[in-house]
Amino acid sequence: MQSESHERIIILDFGSQYTQLIARRVREAGVYCEILPYSVSVEEIQSREPKGLILSGGPSSVYDDDAPKPQTGLLATTPYPVLGICYGLQLMAHGLGGKVLPSKSREYGYARLTVVDSTSRLFAGLPKEMDVWMSHGDHVTELPDGFRMTAQTADAVNAFESPARRIYGLQFHPEVAHTPLGAQILRNFLFEICECKGDWTPAAAIEEQTERIHDCLGENGQAICGLSGGVDSSVAAALVHRAVGDRQICLFINNGLLREGEFEATLALLKQKLKLNIRGVDASERFLVPLQGVFDPEAKRKIIGATFIDVFEEEAKRIGNVGFLVQGTLYPDVIESVSVRGPSVTIKSHHNVGGLPEKMNLQLIEPLRELFKDEVRLIGRELGVPEEILTRHPFPGPGLAVRILGDVTEERLRILRAADRILDEELRQAELYGSVWQAFAVLLPISTVGVMGDERTYERVIAIRAVTSVDGMTADWARLPHDLLARVSTRIVSEVKGVNRVVYDISSKPPSTIEWE
Ligand code: XMP
Repeated sequence: MQSESHERIIILDFGSQYTQLIARRVREAGVYCEILPYSVSVEEIQSREPKGLILSGGPSSVYDDDAPKPQTGLLATTPYPVLGICYGLQLMAHGLGGKVLPSKSREYGYARLTVVDSTSRLFAGLPKEMDVWMSHGDHVTELPDGFRMTAQTADAVNAFESPARRIYGLQFHPEVAHTPLGAQILRNFLFEICECKGDWTPAAAIEEQTERIHDCLGENGQAICGLSGGVDSSVAAALVHRAVGDRQICLFINNGLLREGEFEATLALLKQKLKLNIRGVDASERFLVPLQGVFDPEAKRKIIGATFIDVFEEEAKRIGNVGFLVQGTLYPDVIESVSVRGPSVTIKSHHNVGGLPEKMNLQLIEPLRELFKDEVRLIGRELGVPEEILTRHPFPGPGLAVRILGDVTEERLRILRAADRILDEELRQAELYGSVWQAFAVLLPISTVGVMGDERTYERVIAIRAVTSVDGMTADWARLPHDLLARVSTRIVSEVKGVNRVVYDISSKPPSTIEWE
């Protein structure tokens, strides 16, 4: 599903860690954009009728043997305005006949930019001097014919352009927060140079998707949707419900690995507030039995993934006549697969229903495929998805199984659920739930000596994990207040039978991961 009806910007990805951030800024300005790999053909770009192109930065040097280059002819013949950022600027300078040389050292961090050409439309309305953020090795020493320098840092060229050819280059990164006026520069490119109107809003996206889903399912088609109780699947289900009502049947499977009371509470919430046609399937035994005696994290994940598919398939058969599967895939999941870095190595096999569509001959409906997480939250809010779901911390598909290190048993689930509830209560009480990306308890497979009353104890250890993160790809341990941690620790040891010690995880990702397994 694509947004054919919106004006669009295409961002060619040359491998920068900031490419998604450029897309965020463009969307924030109200313009729809797509990220495509740098190698995409000129015809493919033309077929999408973009209003403009942005060439991202990237880690390469234009002189590297394997330097990523756009398709021949793209720059020389483009009928669209082009903005090259960092490596994108160097590519343009090099490709159009200018000169790029390696700097003595890599320039990284803040720099003071001076605009030297007040007629530049890219810098319209901006002060003559401003702070910008740089991260580059090479720099431009000679401009291509017909280009002029528009801004510099120290004595180096930092921005150049050819208004006649509508080609613009910036050595610094306008998309990062460290370039405070960067958003305005991007807006100038979008509205002044590409002449965009800004027709992309979450409400427009809802309308468009509703129509598409309706067309896709026709008058009688039926879809199933696997709900996890998280943001993505709930918003996807709400959107499809708006389009086809009860012809979407949602399945919420209890795998016995959810948090305390979560199955019943989430089921009730989704039924009441969203009026979804939803079936709760209690399959706890189906999951817990094959997990007995399994210690290896990957083996646990595989068992859970396979069981989930079996249960889902059986339920779909029972419903009968299902042609579509709704999934809450987001834009970052989609672009990861086209990135210049290629598919990333598997650190943990993530639980999904990837095997389902082929196996069951289902057509996929992914109404959130073009959206970022915060856009999904906005849409969810407009669709009436309860705030409690929209602001919920992410929860892994394999659930508590990857937070009980070692063997998963009923007794260990009891301990972990109780500890986890206390942490959740205290965090909310302290009004800090929303300030962390995720916070949870982990049950360690060791016992330690303690003393309670006058008695020696030899009991389990609970680790508390709380992290801050933007997207879950990297994370830092949250600096939670000590008195909050003290309350959590005291309560867990006194209220949860079988635990005599609580520790706090102070590892970041990388080198650790967020979940322990
Ligand atoms: P890691 O542990 O890889 O986790 O740093 C990154 C984020 O992903 C979540 N996570 C999962 N989510 N299925 C999911 O849907 C999974 O199998 C899974 N494993 C980890 C994790 O909670 C964190 O937010």
